[in-house]
Amino acid sequence: MMPLPSPETSLAERVAFSFDEILATDPGLEPLIANGVRCHGGFDSAGAYHSPRTLHRAPAIRAWQARLAAEGADLVTIARDLLPPQYPNVAQAKLLLRAGVRDPIVRALTIIAIVEGFGAVIRDVRVPELRALVREPIDGTALAHLDRGLFEAHARDEAGHRNEGGHKQMWEAARDLALENPRVPTDVLMRILGSGGRAVPRRRSFPQLDETLEGLISTLSNVLVIEVFAAGTFDWGDRLLSDPEVSAAPEHAGAMVRCIRSDETPHVEYLRTALSELRARTLRTVDGGTISGKSVVDALLHRTLYVLTTSRPREQRADTRTSVAHAMRGAGAPGRLLEEFDALETPFAPPTRTGFDPASGTEGPAA
Ligand SMILES: [Fe+2]
Ligand SMILES: [Fe+2]
Repeated sequence: MMPLPSPETSLAERVAFSFDEILATDPGLEPLIANGVRCHGGFDSAGAYHSPRTLHRAPAIRAWQARLAAEGADLVTIARDLLPPQYPNVAQAKLLLRAGVRDPIVRALTIIAIVEGFGAVIRDVRVPELRALVREPIDGTALAHLDRGLFEAHARDEAGHRNEGGHKQMWEAARDLALENPRVPTDVLMRILGSGGRAVPRRRSFPQLDETLEGLISTLSNVLVIEVFAAGTFDWGDRLLSDPEVSAAPEHAGAMVRCIRSDETPHVEYLRTALSELRARTLRTVDGGTISGKSVVDALLHRTLYVLTTSRPREQRADTRTSVAHAMRGAGAPGRLLEEFDALETPFAPPTRTGFDPASGTEGPAA
């Protein structure tokens, strides 16, 4: 039986869906073909793009958010000024392409495609028995649907499913259209895997919580921040690949990036909804006590935001600059090209607060 919305919220919208409903795509769409690969989603008779698997998923997320608002709970928001700039930025990327130093840009676009494909691992995230670990009811929430379609839809959107390409294949197509099937450096995947950070055991911030529950909240926080920050990457990709000065297919490649970008909206929205639902609830600890969901969600969001606005962009910048300088030498570019490149860099000083700062802690940026 379908659980009904609680009477006190008096919502007309449906808030409970089956696994298959969450995965359903609008019927009758003209498929999106990207550089010969059939991709997900498609176009309606008016030519508008519809993201895949949003027939019920999109209204479901809206209904869960409306329910949160009706209950007076906040929806988690990541401040835009936390978003580190792209490195190289659009002007720097154009400088490189015009100078014939194409490898760093081909590499950057290939990394984006590979990282999108890694998104498939979200279907393996373990969801504990939330009804036993959260004190308040969770029927008719995003939380109750994480393992009832939301994670699976997300995984399929990123990595493709069966004969349909997803974001991985769409980024490859955008790259190949814009840069005319460039030679792809063969070490891209190995360098991502070798750059470390993936096998580090997760530090427990809340050992009083069920380990799987802490792992889930930590993953939701990490993935939300990554998805929000990806907006900067999409904007970069759209502007660069839509620019006829450097792109061989400005309309087609740019449109592809915009399709991918619109598919990301349900990811950001279900993640922030689920985190907000946890934040508005009380979590049970393993010793029989309780802890507020807000204190856990805020601490884990703060931890992720702190790392992704300070050490991570610094490391990535240093790494990328080294490979850009190497590519310039390989392409026989004049020495002043690196100076020009550096002069175009977007300065970034991470804000001192993440918006989820501990009330009086020692961890994180100084207030
Ligand atoms: Fe994606
Ligand atoms: Fe995504």
